[in-house]
Amino acid sequence: MPAISASAPGKVILFGEHAVVYGRPAIAAPVTQVKAKAIVTANPRGAPGEIRVQAPGVGLESTLEALDPAHPLAAAIQGTVYALKVKRIPACTIRITSTIPVAAGMGSSAAVSVAVIRVLSAFLGHPLPDEKVSALAYEVEKIHHGTPSGIDNVVVTYARPVYFIKGKPIEVLEVERAFTLVIGDTGIASPTAAAVGEVRKAWQAEKSQYEAYFESIGAIAQSARQAIESGGVELLGPLMDANHGVLRKIGVSCAELDSLVVAARRAGAWGAKLCGGGRGGNMIALVPPARAEEIAKALAAAGAVRTITTVIK
Ligand code: PMV
Repeated sequence: MPAISASAPGKVILFGEHAVVYGRPAIAAPVTQVKAKAIVTANPRGAPGEIRVQAPGVGLESTLEALDPAHPLAAAIQGTVYALKVKRIPACTIRITSTIPVAAGMGSSAAVSVAVIRVLSAFLGHPLPDEKVSALAYEVEKIHHGTPSGIDNVVVTYARPVYFIKGKPIEVLEVERAFTLVIGDTGIASPTAAAVGEVRKAWQAEKSQYEAYFESIGAIAQSARQAIESGGVELLGPLMDANHGVLRKIGVSCAELDSLVVAARRAGAWGAKLCGGGRGGNMIALVPPARAEEIAKALAAAGAVRTITTVIK
C-alpha cells in the first residue's frame, strides 16, 4: 500500500484573540507558507494493531501504546480510531513533520492534529469530513490549551479565512480585496495555555473591566469583518492598532512585541498588532504590498527572529 499523506497550514489570528474565549467574535486566516504534514505507511511485518509514531522535529519515536494517553498525538490518534469505531488497525507508522513555529501563536498544535486525524482516517478507509476533523482536533486542543475557543482547529481545518464565535457554526469570509501581512516572530516561546490562564485570573479579579475590554475587541472584530468583506482594506490598519491597544491593557503584550509593532508602523505598515496568545510569539503588520520586503527588514532589525510575508485572500 502506498504511503498516504495529509497536511494543514499554520494560521494567524487577525482580530479578537482572548476575547474569543469569552464568546466574542474573532477572525483568523490560514498561513500556507508553513504547514504540518503527516504521512502514514503500512508495516506489513509489524505486530497487528501496532501504530508507530515518529515526530523527528521533537525527537519523538514511540509506539502508540508507550505514549501517555494524554499526549496530544496519542489523543489525536485514539480520537480518530474511536470516532471511526475501527476494531482492527493494520500495523503502520505515522510520521509527523511541521514547519510551523511551535508555541508562537501560529496554530502548530491544531495543524498537527488535523494532519494526523486526516491521514489516519484516510488510511483506515474512512476519510472524515472537515466538520468531524475539526471537532476531533478541538478535543486535542483542550489538552494543549485548557479552555481553547476552538478557532485554531477551525481555521487550519478549513484553510480559509473565518469569522468565528465559540459554539456557533463557522462562517467562511469572502475577502473582497486581498491584503498583505508581514508576520514577525519575537522568538520568545509562549505557551497559549499560560497566557489564557492568566487572563482568566485577571478576569475573575476584575470582571466588569475585562468584560469591557472583551466587548471592545468584539466590536473591532465586527468592524474588521465588514471591512474585509467590502474591500475596505485601508480600514483594517487602524483596527489592528486599536486591537493591539486593548490587548496591551489586558496584559498579554510584552516589550518585544510592542517594539516590533512600533517598528512595523515606523517602516510604513498601515497597522500592526500581536497575534495569538501573546507574551511572545508573533505579531502581524498590514502592509502596502510594495513595501513588504522593506518592512520585513525593519522587523528583523528590531529583533524579529523570522518574518513571513503572506497574502490573505
Ligand atoms: O494563536 P494561538 O494558538 O496562541 O491562539 C490563541 C488564541 C486565544 O484566543 C488566546 C486562545 C483561544 O483558544 O482562542
